[in-house]
Amino acid sequence: MLTKKTLINTAISLSLITGFSAYAETFNFTNKTEKDADTLVVFQAGEQFSDDLSRLDKLSNQQVSKALLLNDFKGETNQIVELLMPNGIDAQRLIIVGLGDDKELNAGQVNKLGAAVTEHLSQYSSTDINILTDGINTANSQINFAAELAHGINLRAYQFDRYLSKKKPAEKSYTIQVTEPDTASANYKALSAIEQGVFLARDLTSEVPTEMGPVQFAAAAKELKKLGVKVTVLEPKQIKKLGMGALHAVGRGSAEGARLVIAHWQGNDEAPIALVGKGITFDSGGYNIKATGDSISRMKSDMAGAAAVLGTVKAMAIQKADVNVVAVMAMAANMVSETAFAPGDVVMTAEGLSVEVLNTDAEGRLVLADGLWYAREFYQPQVMIDVATLTGSKVRALGKRYTGLFSDDDALVNELTISGLAVDEKVWRLPLAYDDLLKSPIADLKNAGYGGPGATTAAVFLQQFTGDTKWAHLDIAGSALAAKDVGITPAGGTGHGVRLLSHWIMSQDK
Ligand code: BES
Ligand code: MN
Ligand code: ZN
Repeated sequence: MLTKKTLINTAISLSLITGFSAYAETFNFTNKTEKDADTLVVFQAGEQFSDDLSRLDKLSNQQVSKALLLNDFKGETNQIVELLMPNGIDAQRLIIVGLGDDKELNAGQVNKLGAAVTEHLSQYSSTDINILTDGINTANSQINFAAELAHGINLRAYQFDRYLSKKKPAEKSYTIQVTEPDTASANYKALSAIEQGVFLARDLTSEVPTEMGPVQFAAAAKELKKLGVKVTVLEPKQIKKLGMGALHAVGRGSAEGARLVIAHWQGNDEAPIALVGKGITFDSGGYNIKATGDSISRMKSDMAGAAAVLGTVKAMAIQKADVNVVAVMAMAANMVSETAFAPGDVVMTAEGLSVEVLNTDAEGRLVLADGLWYAREFYQPQVMIDVATLTGSKVRALGKRYTGLFSDDDALVNELTISGLAVDEKVWRLPLAYDDLLKSPIADLKNAGYGGPGATTAAVFLQQFTGDTKWAHLDIAGSALAAKDVGITPAGGTGHGVRLLSHWIMSQDK
């Protein structure tokens, strides 16, 4: 029998500081071998038994190895075998999870394993889970494995259940056995801050459009004041007064109008990193209404860029990170109404460039034009990254698993590419060109570069508003709202971009 031992552990109980849904698993890290739990999880790379598995096999009088044989278990990635009431083992359920080649596992893959554990356990009411990580030999070390595993478990356990009459089952409590519990716990604490940022972005994106307009989004941003974030909200009058005619025009279609929301985490005195988010709380297309297909029904997620940059600021503030990050979020509902802007209108941006609105459905670049200008004008950032569900063209080119990356700065492209691989939010560079297609006969620019590649002509439009500031554009169209549960993302708002940006910001040289 396994002996019961007192746990010397560090408990991390996560509670949301703000949010709409309650969701938080509890993680304890301990260096003691086992504790009683109704469920025991072990990992196994390949067919050569780990120390954990050999011991359990012995205890069970070879029941474990027989079960693995009968199930053709080869220790491959995400292969799962389950034993109920195993002989000699103090658990009602033993779960053996294949790791594949454990030396090759990076953080993103360990997160996915955690998600597979969550997915498997979600069918059971069991809430008391013990995870053994002895003998795990990843590129990251066992400690990082434990922290990244907990991260993956929790990212997948999240659920937006506000509108479900049947709420999610009870939260689960995990004890993860690891040689250095304090380090694992500290590592997980940093990841849990990022989770809170992801969860905020998911909440905001999943919320229905009538409940998440520019005003409600601004109110959600103001919640971050509790964490020491400076939050400023500009109303339509102020937006107009500052000359941000493009943002103002898109906002005119809804009664509340546009908002510019600024959330600043000033963790040091260096020039800030500016993150600019597209915040269209619903994109009907305007008078160029989205009349074909069902894409309009997903357009509550057209503020996912704004949600991602706000989530990133939250992640930095929770950690009290030594970084200076300002999120500028250009919020508007792109609606049809008698006050809405019309195809053919010419709007004036704060940059001083006039824009002919060929298509009211190309509204993202309009609000971002003024958002980028504002970030430069008021914050003189060292670097500026905008995040936007900008074009259907990006979805056709790259699908939802890659973010479109546009920048003239090769070093910045490399950094973002590396961060994307590290957290498994991959980016792919596309060309920044075809600015000649934006010429208009009656204004400085037009807002649609018909005949050119859509994601690129949108990006090159944005570039006109970046001045001399180092800049990259991330087109996350298609990646913001998931139709079904996959890996670390449950169906609904994905929070895509928070983990990428957080990783990139935290790896900046100081
Ligand atoms: N919000 C859409 C882009 C989008 C499409 C996001 C699919 C997520 C999934 C954007 O405002 C838009 O409508 N873009 C148009 C621009 C065109 C009219 C020049 C597009 O890409 O079709
Ligand atoms: Mn649109
Ligand atoms: Zn849009």
